[in-house]
Amino acid sequence: MSQEPQYVPEGVDLDRPNPARIYDWFLGGSSNWAIDREFGAKAIETFPMVKTIARVGREFLGRGVQYLARQGVTQFLDLGSGVPTVGNVHEIADSVNPDSRCVYVDNEPVAVAHSRVLLERQGDLTRHAVLHGDLRNVEEIWERAMDTGVLNPTQPIGLIVCGVLYFFGPDDDPHGIVARYRELLPAGSYFLASHLTFDGGPADGEDKREEVRKQYNQSSAPLFIRTREEFTRFFDGYELVDPGVVWIPQWRTDERESPATAEFLDNPPASSAFAAVGRKP
Ligand SMILES: C[S@@+](CC[C@H](N)C(=O)[O-])C[C@H]1O[C@@H](n2cnc3c(N)ncnc32)[C@H](O)[C@@H]1O
Repeated sequence: MSQEPQYVPEGVDLDRPNPARIYDWFLGGSSNWAIDREFGAKAIETFPMVKTIARVGREFLGRGVQYLARQGVTQFLDLGSGVPTVGNVHEIADSVNPDSRCVYVDNEPVAVAHSRVLLERQGDLTRHAVLHGDLRNVEEIWERAMDTGVLNPTQPIGLIVCGVLYFFGPDDDPHGIVARYRELLPAGSYFLASHLTFDGGPADGEDKREEVRKQYNQSSAPLFIRTREEFTRFFDGYELVDPGVVWIPQWRTDERESPATAEFLDNPPASSAFAAVGRKP
């Protein structure tokens, strides 16, 4: 059972469940409130696999960051970074290269406040930063991220947009947003993303995923599910890194221990999510 956070950062909306806080609860964190937990419990009741799917997404993030760090990427821009939990980007990057740099961005005040506390306590403020902002404001976010002094815009950057693009509908022009970030990235940078899909069937007979999607309409951020083709288009202008666009459990599972992902190895489509990494030539 989660404990209620002891303080409420300014700007937190406790009238509606929030996807960052629901996701934190799915992952076993404590940066969530009763309204988020009630929502999460209802989603699990409808489609029990939803919690494991959240964990699988987080595990891909870990594998992807570890892979990029091993390729020599030393700086990361993590958009929609979420509430800090096990295996944060800066920690994984630091474990490969202790000089790594990371800027986190999220629009949920709880995620930002907790990231700030974590970085102040355990990070290195010359190499790590967190920004409160909306990643859809591409130029503003890029400018603020570079103004932190943490990232060097002339060197390759690992751009991470994991488990986030499905919060953007057609009116947000998510493909346009991703393309604008790609234009700003220096050559040799990487783009790491994952996305929910309803392609393929669920593992357990009746498909309740659409019901969960509808439940998210009651939260502060509805979900927009995409096909493999729509997800693949996010990588236009990038060279896909092997194994390309795959179900999350098929993406380099030998890179890092991924216990939740292991549950889907026999039936990858049941993970309900695609993953890929691209390199900007
Ligand atoms: C499902 S969580 C994923 C967290 C993390 N990227 C991961 O993969 O573990 C989605 C995050 O995206 C954030 N988010 C959603 N829309 C956003 C926006 N427009 N700007 C910045 N962050 C956003 C949410 O607040 C939440 O923290």
